[in-house]
Amino acid sequence: MSSNENREIVDVDLADRSYQIVICTDELSQFPSMARNWLDQFEHWKSETPQAMLISDDNVARLYGESFLKNLCDDGWQAELFTFDAGEAAKSIPSTQKIYDALVNMQADRKTCIIALGGGVVGDLAGFAAATYARGLPFIQVPTTLLADVDSSVGGKVGVNHPRGKNLIGAFHQPLGVFIDTACLQSLSDRDYCSGLAEVIKYGVILDAEFFEYLEEHVAQINDRDPEALREIVSKSCRLKADVVEEDEFERSGLRAMLNYGHTFAHAYETLCGYGELTHGEAVAIGMIDASCLAEKMGRIDSHVIERQMKLLQDLGLPTALPGNTSLASEAVLSCMKLDKKTVAGKLRFILPTRVGHVEVVCDVSEVLVQQLLEQRLSQK
Ligand SMILES: NC(=O)c1ccc[n+]([C@@H]2O[C@H](COP(=O)([O-])OP(=O)(O)OC[C@H]3O[C@@H](n4cnc5c(N)ncnc54)[C@H](O)[C@@H]3O)[C@@H](O)[C@H]2O)c1
Ligand SMILES: [Zn+2]
Repeated sequence: MSSNENREIVDVDLADRSYQIVICTDELSQFPSMARNWLDQFEHWKSETPQAMLISDDNVARLYGESFLKNLCDDGWQAELFTFDAGEAAKSIPSTQKIYDALVNMQADRKTCIIALGGGVVGDLAGFAAATYARGLPFIQVPTTLLADVDSSVGGKVGVNHPRGKNLIGAFHQPLGVFIDTACLQSLSDRDYCSGLAEVIKYGVILDAEFFEYLEEHVAQINDRDPEALREIVSKSCRLKADVVEEDEFERSGLRAMLNYGHTFAHAYETLCGYGELTHGEAVAIGMIDASCLAEKMGRIDSHVIERQMKLLQDLGLPTALPGNTSLASEAVLSCMKLDKKTVAGKLRFILPTRVGHVEVVCDVSEVLVQQLLEQRLSQK
């Protein structure tokens, strides 16, 4: 990781798909020249007047779209803005079709660059269109939510939902570069901001005890969205995720699975609680404590590891148990977990901590134990 006064740079080393994540504050106006440099590295994409389709949702477009588009045009780009209604529902095949139509209408060719300006929904959808149109267009991400900064924009997974399954249709399509302006996080709702923090805490627990300590020591700055703290947590999280992705780009070795710490429980809660009840980050926060309690039951950690996570999650505005008004049966949660696509042949597999900063994949965990844990946790509200 390198930095100058105002920017951090995370190099993602993936052979000929390597790229940079640039993290800055209040520098969106610098994007066009940076993006031009990224395209110019490739003779076949180089152009005096690069063409781009800027894709965003209506919320982000309202906040940043016009000036972002103007900056591109002032720099000599031929760019058009495509927007869709904000929300997970837009991550669909019908929305992808609309992007294809717009690309045909603008006479896009294989040089046309897709720029995703927005959260994870925009990045996943725009990236999927980029991966598939004309067998792959150059793609650049400009994430604007904390979750997109630290998670969805790193690693090249793009895709849309099928009516019967989340993220069922997708591809690996690495971007040419990722441009993160942390000033965009100032306009994010508290709920979306906290949701992203759950993934940040996750990186500390699974990979880096020192980073976890940094978070514990900078709670006030993080809650205030202090620019320096934001650059630190975003760049460190990107570096930690990139390290994992570099080792297991296509999710083959199983290493990438550790990023799912807390997620087996979280996915079940998200499914069972109904849309909008819990954000992804809230569900992950609860799921991380569940996984840690399971690890304690199995004698793998002592209670101190759980307490530290609970305190940090609470200090950063996240829940550690399901809200009091939700009533889920442990049987329902368990059967939902068995359907999780990360489950192998119906066997329960968990990512469990051994200490703060390290986790292990634990296969074939006793169902009885998980059921007991769920009963305790679900009555602990
Ligand atoms: N590809 C991956 O590896 C990966 C990893 C994790 C999550 N995801 C996906 O990411 C999606 C969730 O991403 P998300 O949480 O960013 O959701 P999102 O894109 O829906 O953004 C959340 C809300 O914040 C608004 N918003 C975005 N930026 C803003 C800003 N700067 N100021 C004010 N409002 C802003 C959006 O309009 C939206 O209403 C899910 O679909 C999930 O599957 C993908
Ligand atoms: Zn997640």
